[in-house]
Amino acid sequence: MKVTIDGQEIHVEPGTTILQAARMIGGESVPPAMCYYSKLQGSGGKCRCCLVEVTKGSDANPTPMPKLVASCVTGVMDGMEVNSKNSARVEEARKSVTEFLLINHPLDCPICDQAGECDLQNLSFQHGKSETRFIEEKRTFEPEDIGPNIQLHMNRCILCQRCVLAADQLTDGRVHGVISRGDHAQISTCLSKAIDNEFSGNVIDVCPVGALTDKTFRFKSRVWFNKPYNAHRNCDKCCGKTTVWMFGDEIQRVTARKDEFHEVEEFICNTCRFEKKDVSDWVIEGPRRFEKFSVINRNKYALHPPKVEIRTEKHILEGREQDQKRISMVEVPEKTNGNSNS
Ligand code: SF4
Ligand code: FES
Repeated sequence: MKVTIDGQEIHVEPGTTILQAARMIGGESVPPAMCYYSKLQGSGGKCRCCLVEVTKGSDANPTPMPKLVASCVTGVMDGMEVNSKNSARVEEARKSVTEFLLINHPLDCPICDQAGECDLQNLSFQHGKSETRFIEEKRTFEPEDIGPNIQLHMNRCILCQRCVLAADQLTDGRVHGVISRGDHAQISTCLSKAIDNEFSGNVIDVCPVGALTDKTFRFKSRVWFNKPYNAHRNCDKCCGKTTVWMFGDEIQRVTARKDEFHEVEEFICNTCRFEKKDVSDWVIEGPRRFEKFSVINRNKYALHPPKVEIRTEKHILEGREQDQKRISMVEVPEKTNGNSNS
């Protein structure tokens, strides 16, 4: 099927959504997505961030679609023509959706662990307004512990439901979900039960905001002071391929590796994520480049370094020399361990 997005033509398989086709094209035509997650079945259709304008339905029926459509749940038709970045209507709609998502979201980026890698922060940076029209009181909740390693800050939740799908599809017994309706809707475990499963930590990675955070990393460092390195270990529960986030020679956080759309490449187990914080637990492969153009890399990191070099400051971090030294990992050898560390 032929589809044209922002004037760029691409041929895709039947059943492809507009968002998937846009991702194949890449660049600025890719709509933002806060709830769609390609690795989670049934995701999408909730946040409306990915609205696009269909100016021609198909070759068979060229009538434009009267309303903007959610690109993550709208399949392409042969001959369809779509405007994403080129449409003033789309731009206005994204601004409105961003404003809507921020209605109840606290402006606590300065103390939020997700700051710097938050999809909502990035969305606001691109489409947000500098002022709010919302003068009513925001709804608030107490932080909730859901197990020893995960904390829920419901105030920050945008109800994208990715975590619910992740728990459903990666773990045996989901114990949390969306409770209540409308303005009262919230993510909760009801009884503050632990999400007790080896893959439960992945809800942290799929959460687009700072609603679900890693308690082993909380308040340790701003993410832009950490240096991400690809690392692996022999793990009998998951792929063992992760990104370790270092401050000096200390591993402060372990996450799954994320692609250019900020989606996890392969889900990892809780042992790798929460329990392996020694450098000797890992074989460090080399610096991980930031794929997604976001707040964390703006004006700081080269998006596509021509060459990645191990154990050198080149291409990893720009900025003041004294800062580079402070957060470098000079003591960590290129290969710390060639053997199994499971
Ligand atoms: S906690 Fe995070 S992942 Fe779960 S619904 Fe809220 S925003 Fe989405
Ligand atoms: S990403 Fe399409 S509606 Fe949320």
